[in-house]
Amino acid sequence: MANVAVIGAQWGDEGKGKVVDWLASRADVVVRFQGGHNAGHTLVVGNQTYKLSLLPSGLVNNKLGIIGNGVVVDPEALLAEIERVRSQGLTITPESLRIAENAVLILPLHPALDRARESARGEHKIGTTGRGIGPAYEDKVARRAIRIADLAEPETLSAKLDELLLHYNTLLAGLGVATFSKDVLLARLLELAPQILPYAEPVWERLDTLRRAGKRILFEGAQAVMLDVDHGTYPFVTSSNTVAATAAAGSGMGPAAVGFVLGIAKAYTTRVGSGPFPTELHDATGRLLGERGHEFGTVTGRPRRCGWFDAALVRQAVKVGGIQGLALTKLDVLDGLPELKICTGYRIRGEHFRHLPAAPGAQAAAEPEYETMEGWSDSTHGARSWADLPAQAIKYVRRIEELVEAPVTLLSTSPEREDTILVKDPFEG
Ligand code: GDP
Ligand code: IMO
Ligand code: MG
Repeated sequence: MANVAVIGAQWGDEGKGKVVDWLASRADVVVRFQGGHNAGHTLVVGNQTYKLSLLPSGLVNNKLGIIGNGVVVDPEALLAEIERVRSQGLTITPESLRIAENAVLILPLHPALDRARESARGEHKIGTTGRGIGPAYEDKVARRAIRIADLAEPETLSAKLDELLLHYNTLLAGLGVATFSKDVLLARLLELAPQILPYAEPVWERLDTLRRAGKRILFEGAQAVMLDVDHGTYPFVTSSNTVAATAAAGSGMGPAAVGFVLGIAKAYTTRVGSGPFPTELHDATGRLLGERGHEFGTVTGRPRRCGWFDAALVRQAVKVGGIQGLALTKLDVLDGLPELKICTGYRIRGEHFRHLPAAPGAQAAAEPEYETMEGWSDSTHGARSWADLPAQAIKYVRRIEELVEAPVTLLSTSPEREDTILVKDPFEG
């Protein structure tokens, strides 16, 4: 009986939340292992829509939720999100949610620097979510971050704030924006401490116990392989590793614990923020995909850029992400399009590439090489079995499998939880 890790195979917003929520009924615990409240996962269950950023999606299914050490946690955002989902009827308590005591905190100075740097970049901006994710991960690697456990030690907090403010206030003043007062930050952290600490523990120990008891662990990735800080379209990426291997280090388990790696991909492609996007469509088809797919960022409300399915990109994500099976989502958005294109490789400065090379100039210059397929006129919206799919839609899925070199093990045909076709149960390994 395997555990399962769910990761994005494109540039995010593939429908990870929906798939994790659906799989959660088969799991005992759901673990977030990287990212922060830059993530926005939408779950539709009956007439309720849940928008989760930090909370593991399994909580909607009443499964134990764990926020691993690899996540950067904004305590204000966490408490606000807990309140929000409580008002929707979910029960979140220190029994149902555990947070790694060694997870890094996001403080107000992180989004301040994130935004100040973005505006200084002008037209070269990355298009971050402005939530302080990058600066928080920088602090972690620079060994000056404040972590959850520090909330229990006022002297540690005080000393770390001195070090942080020396760094941040210098930068913020240089960028011409407001600086922070230590007294205000310290007072707020001490106020937050008793609200956050009841959730904190060494989660690695609980996960070890659960694993040895044969419980099923579902790892919930945020962002996606093409936003991975090593493997993505650098520098237009997020500041964490998003590949499945991170599930182990980001939760305090060994690599063997990760289990089956399920990559999520839309039946087309979207991206929020700046950066290369070879199959982007600036025409009526691109706008149609955006409208029918309701492609607006969950976190920032920005319209998502839309384009054709890029099989070369997903194939690369399959390889570097360790993806063993693909969940293909939003097939229904393509209903009624007379013709579909799939990118199979790139032409870059006259040369053919089967993958996206690392140099930013080459990425920006990449022209997609397409093959064209006939579309289908019947609806796939809400389909719950292969038998409900038009033959041409099945052909499209089969061609994607061939090109990305991974089997499609799950299909999603609407935002609703139950509109899902299971081909092979990922928990069966
Ligand atoms: P995540 O970040 O990967 O969890 O994805 P988001 O929740 O940010 O964005 C995916 C959007 O597509 C959400 O609004 C989902 O409700 C919706 N969605 C997921 N699967 C499907 C599907 O199969 N069809 C349609 N039409 N919408 C879907
Ligand atoms: P989910 O989990 C889509 C993008 C931002 C920006 C870049 C860096 O919902 O798929 P950051 O704030 O992380 O420093 O921004 O990454 N980005 C996402 N795009 N979905 C996400 O999460 C994203 N999280 C970050 O738009 O381009
Ligand atoms: Mg999202």
